[in-house]
Amino acid sequence: MKIRVPATSANLGPGFDSCGIALSMYLCVEVLEDSDSWEIQHTLGAEIPTDETNLLLQIALKLAPTLTPKKLKMTSDIPLARGLGSSSSVIVAGIELANRLGNLNLSEKRKVEIATQIEGHPDNVAPAITGDFVVACHFNERKEDSVPYVKHYFPECDIIAFIPNTELLTSESRSVLPDSFSYKEAVEASAIANVMIAAVLNSNLPLAGQMMQEDRWHERYRGKLVPHLADIRQICREEGAYGCYLSGAGPTILILTPEDKTEKTMKLLHALDSRAQIEQLSIDREGIQVF
Ligand code: HSE
Repeated sequence: MKIRVPATSANLGPGFDSCGIALSMYLCVEVLEDSDSWEIQHTLGAEIPTDETNLLLQIALKLAPTLTPKKLKMTSDIPLARGLGSSSSVIVAGIELANRLGNLNLSEKRKVEIATQIEGHPDNVAPAITGDFVVACHFNERKEDSVPYVKHYFPECDIIAFIPNTELLTSESRSVLPDSFSYKEAVEASAIANVMIAAVLNSNLPLAGQMMQEDRWHERYRGKLVPHLADIRQICREEGAYGCYLSGAGPTILILTPEDKTEKTMKLLHALDSRAQIEQLSIDREGIQVF
């Protein structure tokens, strides 16, 4: 059995902690033979555990503690700590591993609830489970399990990920956010998000991209941690891209472009920072797949 989970890009600007898309980079977990103890074969770096302390197995064994130990093989092309849902992909794969090996029969809805409870942000995990574009909310204050969400088709466009060669931890990127802001500002921030989502649903990417760049919730506070954001906004404006936003907690910046603008935009991004990884991606429509 092989479990494949896509990367995700959360927020889409004003859809902070609520909107996300699934992307064509993947974590794969292959289940090999039974063994005396759990063992994960991978080449993801010495700091990633190969035993039960690995996040994948912590999650799987919490949900299904009596699973028979197995050898597993893990591969991933989702860069770590870059705002592309690398840890979400591991959490989602752990839930699916328990689901399949432990015959838990979890529904999609239940997987979204469990993953959100563990990760804390539905915008990171829900698209990895469902694929495509997801709008969700999480009642943090009420400490409820319920995570209402809607999956919808995200319009076709080219997607470029500008992935800096530095890590940014979500905790650091959240520490610069304010505890509160005014009612008036919140109403405006919410209205901008509403228009962004409605524009996506209407396949109006020029308007969606414009609204993505009008975020009031988080990007202005995080700008100092991601110095390239302002430069990339300018490239988008000059080259006729739909728009760009900080992917999750950053530092990756996601750029949405019409097909004929991609090549030139990618060249300019390379010139901006030759050490950054620049990937052309597409929307993953399926979410978790088990082969
Ligand atoms: N919505 C979350 C954030 C995603 O921007 O902090 C990253 O966990």
